[in-house]
Amino acid sequence: MKKILVVEDHDPLRHGIVEAFQRSGHLVAEAGDAETAIRLISEEYFGVVVTDISLPRHSGIEVLKAAKQTNPLTTVIVMTAYGTVENAVEAMRVGADDYLQKPFPIEELELKVSKALEHQTALQTIEDLRQTTGWPHQLLGQSPQLRHLLGVIQKIGKSQATILIEGETGTGKELVAKAIHAASPRADRALIKVNCAALPEPLLESELFGHEKGAFTGADRQRIGRFELANSGTLFLDEIAEISLATQAKLLRAIQERAFERVGGEKTITIDVRIIAATNKDLQTEVKAHRFRDDLFYRLNVVTVTLPALRERKEDIPLLAEHFAQYYAKELGKRIQPLAPSVLNALQDYPWPGNIRELENTMERAVLMAEGDTIKAKDISCAGPEPARSENDFTLPPGGMSLENIEKQAILAALDRTGWVQKDAATLLGVSARVLNYKIKGHHITHPTWLRHRPPQTAA
Ligand SMILES: Nc1ncnc2c1ncn2[C@@H]1O[C@H](COP(=O)(O)OP(=O)(O)OP(=O)(O)O)[C@@H](O)[C@H]1O
Ligand SMILES: [Mg+2]
Repeated sequence: MKKILVVEDHDPLRHGIVEAFQRSGHLVAEAGDAETAIRLISEEYFGVVVTDISLPRHSGIEVLKAAKQTNPLTTVIVMTAYGTVENAVEAMRVGADDYLQKPFPIEELELKVSKALEHQTALQTIEDLRQTTGWPHQLLGQSPQLRHLLGVIQKIGKSQATILIEGETGTGKELVAKAIHAASPRADRALIKVNCAALPEPLLESELFGHEKGAFTGADRQRIGRFELANSGTLFLDEIAEISLATQAKLLRAIQERAFERVGGEKTITIDVRIIAATNKDLQTEVKAHRFRDDLFYRLNVVTVTLPALRERKEDIPLLAEHFAQYYAKELGKRIQPLAPSVLNALQDYPWPGNIRELENTMERAVLMAEGDTIKAKDISCAGPEPARSENDFTLPPGGMSLENIEKQAILAALDRTGWVQKDAATLLGVSARVLNYKIKGHHITHPTWLRHRPPQTAA
């Protein structure tokens, strides 16, 4: 368990704080002056240091500096006397994580401390995962739902069963499909993906099953389909609800018999594939509405994994936010401090209709917008207009950036500047609102204010 150090020269106050922490089950050490505190800090690790600023000989600022130097992960909360705001400002500048002005209710301090400890646990988990599993593209989370999910993945990974993954947009369906494949005996074979929503119908069929030369106009050579490519591996059918009824029939047979013919071909090809399908629609509803074949549904629905929405597991938000912040900081060649409690609170209060993908986009943007090495609440909520810049004032991050990402960042910047009014952002970017809207969808960009324009979500 992480220990707390309380530094305060006024005995009754120090005793009061120490006792309160002990009552709530914490390990606590205490010091009545800066010298003792600095010695203790050099001897053992403290998760949190709570220090008064005006101490007898040396000030609490020295304690703060010593704590941060010894371990940057230590959270330092300073206490200042009424009417000495400049002390608090100075402390924050030097690196304090938070401050309290005396007198304060002890519960307020306790709350700050327990938040800080929670956040440290999250950071530690990221670090552990980073060391044990590689980085990034891992399923992160510490909520009961996510732990359960990891267990399920290990279990079903071993079987050959067909899997259906359900979940709202951005909940991690593709990542889970990859994890299941990686946990399976086929892990060293291919995982082949087909995005069933991306292709118009005739093309989808040949994408899945391939075609023979001359099968249709433009088929000037034979083509191997995804089913064949996935042979002895795993086939991931993403957005399965988007397939037409005609192709569903062919898919059903291919899954049932593990056999099919190429489009325009006669030879029956047999294959050995494991099928994983994903959808953000409720397939049962699609079946009732006669848009999805019930026999195909039952074939797919052997094992169903339902991914929780991010708002149903808010505990995971700090961990994920921190992960994405550090990930994009690295990508953009920036240094970003651990997120402040106020930022984490704001993130946890938002319902995230676009789930983890939306959180990821938000953090990427926040890293980009952050001035200095600190992400502030305003970087998250996309505050006011940016200062005017000249047209050529574009700085490519040290690590470079893909054109696609540059386009996305330009769209985000335009949206930010126009208060997220797409029509105005389109004008800024010199494209039609339609084109912009199309690109916004392509980049999976969402914003809290657009929520109001969405149809009400039906409860799961
Ligand atoms: N548990 C997680 N830990 C870390 N990153 C995650 C997690 N879940 C999802 N992500 C990340 O969030 C993003 C969205 O995930 P993914 O593409 O798997 O979602 P999806 O459910 O397939 O979304 P859609 O329905 O829009 O296709 C990806 O960048 C993915 O790496
Ligand atoms: Mg997906």
